[in-house]
Order: sequence, then C-alpha cells, then structure tokens
Amino acid sequence: MTTEYKYSTVLVDFEDGIAWVTLNRPEKRNAMSPTLNKEMIEVIEKLEVDERCGVLVLTGAGDAFSAGMDLKEFFRESDNLPPEAWAQISRNSQIWQLQRLRYFPKPTIAMVNGWCFGGGFNPVTACDIAVAAEEAIFGLSEVNWGIIPAGNVLKSVTTTMRHRDGLYYSLTGDNFNGTEAAKMGFVNFAVPRAEMRDKVKEIATKMLGKNRAAARAIKNAYRKIAEMSWDASEDYLMAKLDQLRLTDPDKGRAKGMKQFLDDKTYRPGLGAYKADK
Ligand code: ACO
Repeated sequence: MTTEYKYSTVLVDFEDGIAWVTLNRPEKRNAMSPTLNKEMIEVIEKLEVDERCGVLVLTGAGDAFSAGMDLKEFFRESDNLPPEAWAQISRNSQIWQLQRLRYFPKPTIAMVNGWCFGGGFNPVTACDIAVAAEEAIFGLSEVNWGIIPAGNVLKSVTTTMRHRDGLYYSLTGDNFNGTEAAKMGFVNFAVPRAEMRDKVKEIATKMLGKNRAAARAIKNAYRKIAEMSWDASEDYLMAKLDQLRLTDPDKGRAKGMKQFLDDKTYRPGLGAYKADK
C-alpha cells in the first residue's frame, strides 16, 4: 500500500496493472459508513488517473463483501440531522457507487468474497464484471427491516437481475449464494473462494492486454445507450467510433488492420493485435 492511499476504511494495493480496492471494516462486515463513502470517492478519483491502475477490483476484507449501508452510522445517527446534512451523506454513497464507479474510465471487477446485502448490490452492479465466491451470500434484506431498497438499489437490481428474480428477492428478502447468483446472471462467474482471486486476475490480465481507449468507450457507451432510442444510440456510437479513431493514443485500429491485412501476423477474431508494433 502506498502512502497516498492511506485511509481508515479502505485499502488499496497495486499488482501488475490491477488496483485491488478493499472495503476494510471487517469487524462491521464492511458496512458502508459515511466515512467509508467519503473515502471511496477520493480513492476512485485518484485511481482514475493513476497509471498503476489499468483495472480496478473491488472486494471486502474478511468474510464480507459488504453488509450494506451502516445501520448505525448511516441510518440511526442521521435520523435527527437537518435535511441538507442527510442529503449530503446520502449523496456521497451515490457518488462513489453509481456515478464514479459506474463510469470509472477503466474496466472494473467486483470480487464478491462473502456477505453482500442491500446497498452492497450497488457497487456490484456498478462494476463491469462480477465474480463471486460460490460461498458468498447475497440478500436484498431491506424488506426484513421494513424499508425499501432506496439509494437506487432497486434501480440497480432492474439492470442486473431478471424481472422475476429482482421482484422475488426484494419482496421475500431470501438469501442466495454465489452459485445461484451466477445461474441468475447477477454475477458472471462463481468459483470456490480459494480460486476467486486467480479467476479475477485471469480476467483482469485479459482486459489489460486490450486497447484501453476502446475499453473506456465501450463501457461508457454500454451504459449510456441503454437509456437512448435506437436512433440516438446509432448516432452516439458512430460519433464515438469517429472520436476514438482520432483520440486513441495507441492507434489500435490502424495497427490491427495492418497486422491482419498486410503482415498477416494475427487474427482479430482470435485475440488482440500487438500494441508495440
Ligand atoms: N450496519 C451496521 N453494523 C453492521 C452491519 C450493518 N449493515 N452489518 C453488520 N454490522 C455489525 C454488527 O452490528 C456487529 O457489530 P458489533 O460487533 O459492534 O455488535 C458486527 O458488524 C458483526 O455483525 P454480526 O451480525 O455479529 O456478524 P455475523 O457474521 O454473525 O453476521 C451478517 C453477518 C449476516 C452480515 C449480519 O451482520 C447482518 O445481517 N447484517 C446486516 C445486513 C443488512 O441487512 N444490511 C442492510 C441492508 S439494507 C441497506 O443497505 C440499505
């Protein structure tokens, strides 16, 4: 861990292009407190421009990914705050989970190592890819204590869970494990917890070998076009295609075509072009 990433509730480690970001309140099952939310905004802002981070992996310390919003510090202790102060506290959680992380300019992977409840669904959804431990336990537990999945959790659920699953789990509060999460498509893969980190590294390494400007454009476009009409989406994607041709520092398009059509050194259908040529 480097000194510029010294936080009380978040750990950041770098390894071969991957930034491992760990929610670090294991004694509270990584429940998201106002302090953690503020620190995560800063961490993500820094990682956006940190050359050591090509892929961001988000996980939790100990047996939990995150037990959701902190019932004591986020809810009870803010019950008597003035509305402006409560709005600020609640906005901070949205800023890191659903704005900065969702539009992080590099690929992101949620590594769900254990308990994941309520508000914890937001960062999982915000990440591009999710890998869970088979043993992880998920739950939309809001209904179990008489609230609704606000903080846009329900909105997150509508983008990553199937209609029937989202309604079933938010209405019953039932738990599901990592294996079931993968079957439902809420996460991409579930593997035994002991193999989870290697699986995540394998995916991250694959993405690190691809054109970064294209990856940034793809992940942003993927989310933005979901809310556009077909016509608007067509225009937006063509504009981004042209923009990328002009702004990609690696000039991947030209290299890829030359290496395939002229040099015949690779096949785009089977892997990435050589960036250093
Ligand atoms: N908010 C605040 N504190 C929490 C939270 C939370 N979400 N989750 C756990 N903790 C605290 C506990 O109060 C306890 O603190 P203490 O040691 O000071 O008493 C400590 O973390 C350990 O919790 P246990 O319940 O003892 O741990 P256990 O491993 O047995 O159970 C579990 C883990 C299942 C995650 C349980 O703690 C739990 O149900 N937590 C709440 C999950 C939840 O419903 N979250 C809210 C979702 S809704 C939303 O996010 C808006």
